[in-house]
Amino acid sequence: MTLLIRNGRVIDPASMQDSVADILIQDGKIADIRPQMQEPEDRQAVQIDAQGCYVMPGFIDLHVHLRDPGFEYKETVATGAAAAARGGFTTIVAMPNTKPAADNADVISYVHNKAKNMTKINVLQAGAITHKMAGEQLSDIEDMVRAGSPAVSEDGKSVMNANLMHKAMKIAKRLDIPVLSHCEEKTLLNGGVVNEDENAVRNGLPGISNLVENMIAVRDVMLAGDTGAKLHLCHCSTKESVEIVKLARERGVRISAEVCPHHFTLSSDDMITGDTNFKMNPPLRTKEDVEALRQGLKDDILDVIATDHAPHSKDDKNDSMLRAPFGIIGLETAAALTHTELVLGGYLTPMQMAQKMSFHPARVLGIDKGSLQPGKTADIVIFDPEKTYEIDASRSASKSRNTPFHGRRVTGAVRVTIAGGEIVYQAEKY
Ligand code: DOR
Ligand code: ZN
Ligand code: ZN
Repeated sequence: MTLLIRNGRVIDPASMQDSVADILIQDGKIADIRPQMQEPEDRQAVQIDAQGCYVMPGFIDLHVHLRDPGFEYKETVATGAAAAARGGFTTIVAMPNTKPAADNADVISYVHNKAKNMTKINVLQAGAITHKMAGEQLSDIEDMVRAGSPAVSEDGKSVMNANLMHKAMKIAKRLDIPVLSHCEEKTLLNGGVVNEDENAVRNGLPGISNLVENMIAVRDVMLAGDTGAKLHLCHCSTKESVEIVKLARERGVRISAEVCPHHFTLSSDDMITGDTNFKMNPPLRTKEDVEALRQGLKDDILDVIATDHAPHSKDDKNDSMLRAPFGIIGLETAAALTHTELVLGGYLTPMQMAQKMSFHPARVLGIDKGSLQPGKTADIVIFDPEKTYEIDASRSASKSRNTPFHGRRVTGAVRVTIAGGEIVYQAEKY
């Protein structure tokens, strides 16, 4: 199949190109890229007019919960991948907190095989650091990597035993894979469900302090420095995390760090009392934290935007703030929120958006993606930066609807998503 994307604003972080050009796609690969290309020889070629749109490498999400196996009523590989395609993502990394946990090569292969049959986008399953994610015994990381796992993580919690985490990092270093770290010092949690601040007090809810995140971020930086492992901090939410990443990088630690759209868009002041769609872990922090995250992204201290797409059913979320599970969906709103809040907000250039949503995550994983150079696999997103609309959760391709962004006005819409040279999503009326 031949595809020709015409007249788009091509934004390629691999070459730092930002100019209007056409892109020719043949046999799943980018064949050519230059202005005003001639009509393709292939008469059946599909042409897409991308005038006024950004054409970027397909987005790569380092942080997704697909809930498969075990919680298929919340999400499956198929529905999660469909939501990803709608959001402009062509590669996603699934977290291992499934049932059973993805702590061995069989579960890794199960997800990979299912994905191959269900979707054209790339689904990569991260392996759990410990057996059953119980924090007591290391899983066979080498075997999982042999099965295609690109990273390890214990997301949903931290490996509280520093000695085990140290050992895991030594193995990760040897295998040259990143450790995706959810930073949460359990002994400081005290049953917290929202950020520890005056909003928590007003609502009579136990709070989660910044310290809960900061303590483990510092610990893992120390462990990464000692072992030489590649450390990636998941969902940074505190102003101190930004400082920790900055300092670590200055000291030569191999570190990357992600921010989720909800953490750079909303503060705890925006929470609607009792609405569990505002409950996630880490929690929405203060305005000061939000501003520090935005600045950290602007200054390229924080280099990745990831969703922490965490689907939960209506029944699961239809509970008290104390008891409902943490988490919100995010695959379909990430690009629009990034564009509205950060690009139009004056924090990021469109190039930085492409870096943080594609090129940098590819670099973290060490995969040959995030680039629009000829010869590369044609994973591409066409994004309309001018379309303004209200987010409508009812139209989500996810099985779940748990988002605090329903009804929010945003500017920027994914028009077409192409994975491996095939159109995997196309917006209506386009
Ligand atoms: O909000 C969250 N939801 N944070 C996590 O760390 C886990 C995730 C989930 O699995 O639901
Ligand atoms: Zn997490
Ligand atoms: Zn997560």
